[in-house]
Amino acid sequence: MKQRTPKVIERLRIDEAASEGKFISKPEGGKVIFTEYTAPGDVVDVEIRKSKSSFAEAKVTQFHSFSSHRQDPFCKHYGTCGGCRLQHIQYTYQLEYKFNQVKDALERIGKIALPEINPILGSARTEYYRNKMEYSFSSRRWLEASDIASREQLSRNALGFHVPGMFDRIVHIQHCYLQDHTANEIRNALYAFAESKGLIFFDQKIQQGCLRSFMLRNTSKGEWMALVQFGQANDEEISMVMDFLHEKFPILTSLLYVVNQKLNDSLYDQEVVVHKGLPYIVEELEGLQFRIQPKSFFQTNTAQAEILYRVARTMAGLKGDELVFDLYTGTGTIANFIARQARKVIGIESVPMAIEDAKLNSQVNGIQNTEFLVADMKDIFTPAFIAQHGKPDVVITDPPRAGMHESVVRTLLDSGTPRIVYISCNPATQARDLALLDEKYTVKEVQPVDMFPHTHHCENVVLLELRD
Ligand SMILES: C[S@@+](CC[C@H](N)C(=O)[O-])C[C@H]1O[C@@H](n2cnc3c(N)ncnc32)[C@H](O)[C@@H]1O
Repeated sequence: MKQRTPKVIERLRIDEAASEGKFISKPEGGKVIFTEYTAPGDVVDVEIRKSKSSFAEAKVTQFHSFSSHRQDPFCKHYGTCGGCRLQHIQYTYQLEYKFNQVKDALERIGKIALPEINPILGSARTEYYRNKMEYSFSSRRWLEASDIASREQLSRNALGFHVPGMFDRIVHIQHCYLQDHTANEIRNALYAFAESKGLIFFDQKIQQGCLRSFMLRNTSKGEWMALVQFGQANDEEISMVMDFLHEKFPILTSLLYVVNQKLNDSLYDQEVVVHKGLPYIVEELEGLQFRIQPKSFFQTNTAQAEILYRVARTMAGLKGDELVFDLYTGTGTIANFIARQARKVIGIESVPMAIEDAKLNSQVNGIQNTEFLVADMKDIFTPAFIAQHGKPDVVITDPPRAGMHESVVRTLLDSGTPRIVYISCNPATQARDLALLDEKYTVKEVQPVDMFPHTHHCENVVLLELRD
């Protein structure tokens, strides 16, 4: 079959930022073209990879000149591993990019009256800011350009991240800039040990192999959790690996493993075995202790999470006698964080294990004015719920990327709640929900917070007040 030659456009100027970490060009007389790993001001040659009636997607084949917003990416895996896609852009411009994405979503999708948006709160740490990373073992290593150029005889085994769009190919990571240096030491030592013992790395295609995945979590108090997923129940191999980690890294206060023989890597339905230490690590925010179990959700940039929670608490304007609902409470972190400033906080969440953690975190901190309920939000958060539990003075809502179900928004509208604090990790769905809430609520404050430097993701906190 004859291969079609891709259409090439030469000397295309990248004009502006678009959502999802993409950038656009608007050539005169042509359709809008999306590219990645570019920046406004770049001039490039591109090959059109996908063409629709109103837009096209293209891959850069050559740079002619570079944007003034650029910097040299500092990671050797940039562009291959799929993470940190904005690393080629200076952090100040990344913040401008995120601020504009929030503003654009609220204006274009929300179409509501807005106050002046507060300047974005950037992350003091732009490297080594994450407290959790998950790596995959694979016998199908993806060879990076530098690997091929080195002409070295490389092992086909890898421990690292999936190549975007390829379920079975893993980029072997030597140094990742996302989690504390110790994470690199532990991961590299585990890789070298597994290689030296000839252990079989997992093959995602045939679903076989001893070593499957590896998770590392740490806290600002210096506690570390390691969890190894094995693809088969071979006690001798499991002991060998776990004893190695225990002896080599006494810093691991929680050393766990799982034998996972199902088709995917997800942990939620797996039995976690404690090899050594405790089944959890403990994080501290404003003197409160938060137990983090391997399956628990906890915001991955601890320092920025504390800032985000403070912003939400300040917007909530608590004086001590309020009834607060914390919708989509997860492990109850916000509920517990604000409980000392409120009369009562009710947290609602659909994951039963998260609610167990939430209750435990109240208990550990001697907090007695919280109540946690497990349910799907659209089923539980109804006028009957409000009649039973009372009209809240404040609702804090922090839904997943999909935003709130329309019926949840309806209940909020009918509840007469004077104040709503809406935290979101997706400005587009937040804007959609704000447009619905606009029927009765005015947006009083908007505060973007950057939790994930070098990615396009941005959190946004909005304060809404009921109109008279
Ligand atoms: C962005 S997280 C909120 C995390 C929490 N506020 C925190 O800061 O740790 C969203 C939460 O919503 C929960 N969730 C998702 N869909 C839900 C639903 N339909 N009903 C109730 N909770 C849901 C998820 O399990 C997750 O814990």
